Amino acid sequence: MTTMPLPPSLIATLPGHFYTDPEIFRQEQERLFESMWFCAVRGADLARPGAFRTVRIGRESVIVTRNRGGELRAFLNVCRHRGAQLCTEESGEVRRTLQCPYHAWTYDLDGKLIAAPNLVKMNDVDRTAYGLVTVHLREWLGYAWVCLADEPPSFEETVIGAAVERLGDAASIERYGTEKLALGKRITYDVKANWKLIVENFMECYHCATIHPELTDVLPEFADGYAAQYYVGHGAAFADEAKGFTVDGSEGFARLPDVAEEQDRRYYAITVKPTVFINLVPDHVILHRMFPLAEDRTVVECDWLYAPEVVESGADASRSVELFHRVNVQDFDACERTQPAMASRAYRTGGVLVPTEHHIEVFHAWLLEKLRSHASDQA
Ligand code: FES
Ligand code: FE
Repeated sequence: MTTMPLPPSLIATLPGHFYTDPEIFRQEQERLFESMWFCAVRGADLARPGAFRTVRIGRESVIVTRNRGGELRAFLNVCRHRGAQLCTEESGEVRRTLQCPYHAWTYDLDGKLIAAPNLVKMNDVDRTAYGLVTVHLREWLGYAWVCLADEPPSFEETVIGAAVERLGDAASIERYGTEKLALGKRITYDVKANWKLIVENFMECYHCATIHPELTDVLPEFADGYAAQYYVGHGAAFADEAKGFTVDGSEGFARLPDVAEEQDRRYYAITVKPTVFINLVPDHVILHRMFPLAEDRTVVECDWLYAPEVVESGADASRSVELFHRVNVQDFDACERTQPAMASRAYRTGGVLVPTEHHIEVFHAWLLEKLRSHASDQA
């Protein structure tokens, strides 16, 4: 197959093997998921001390729990004795300690080794040296963001910075008070596609007119293919006839209390690389967390967050949830339809980006830079 020079309207995508090659996925695990801040768990899912959740981050299993003082803590899910996984459940609750099911080494909720059979007879062993390996943790928007790197990148620049870059300032996202919202609905999608296809899909709206009829009814400018993410500070305006951000344009809920007048009746989408999407509308926030599990499989956990009084009142949020659930299914179906073609000889040199997708090149350049700097670190 010969490669022809591209006309100015078109930019090359990544070649197909970037979406299928286990070695590239391994590099992404190391360089991205195990090195950057990763949105792991919603804090309110760990309501009480001792509640825990285990999450897969890159090649590691990480336990996120709440200590006796009510603070979130994260550890590698590896016993310091002979390496058994401490928690094999996806979630659960312990009373005071995490005890290894193999030889019963026991750790407190700050990861400190506090007991082990015959430990008193080994008085040369410094228990503080055999605690669980701690993982860096920051809370933002009500979620525990963890970082496996010894020296994490700046949270302000790499996480909050994504919202600032998109919205123009930090205050604009703070006004939604996401950390105070309550979970109205969570849907987990097991998507048979590479995580980058999902990111690229989220970044462009060229597909909106074709596959998102309900979304383009509420956000008519999306039908032109220009993603709201194109312009700093721009939110897509609701259609005049749409009363709310719902599947049929029916009324939503009251505007969140601090959302500004100019943010009302608008939709904002933010991509926090590598694995988080934040969607802001006046009465709720939709947050996607991706867990890339293999080069062709990504689990996406999507949370719909509403004012606590909306959730407590038992109000019917189904039309509100249904809109983005349909968008998710439509998007993930498209990604799954694309994934097998990534291994085709027709896609050996990749495809092309049209002008309304050109900004995806920034994501590709960012990824290549991450993988390249990794290669030079190894040299
Ligand atoms: Fe955990 Fe032995 S491996 S106590
Ligand atoms: Fe879409």
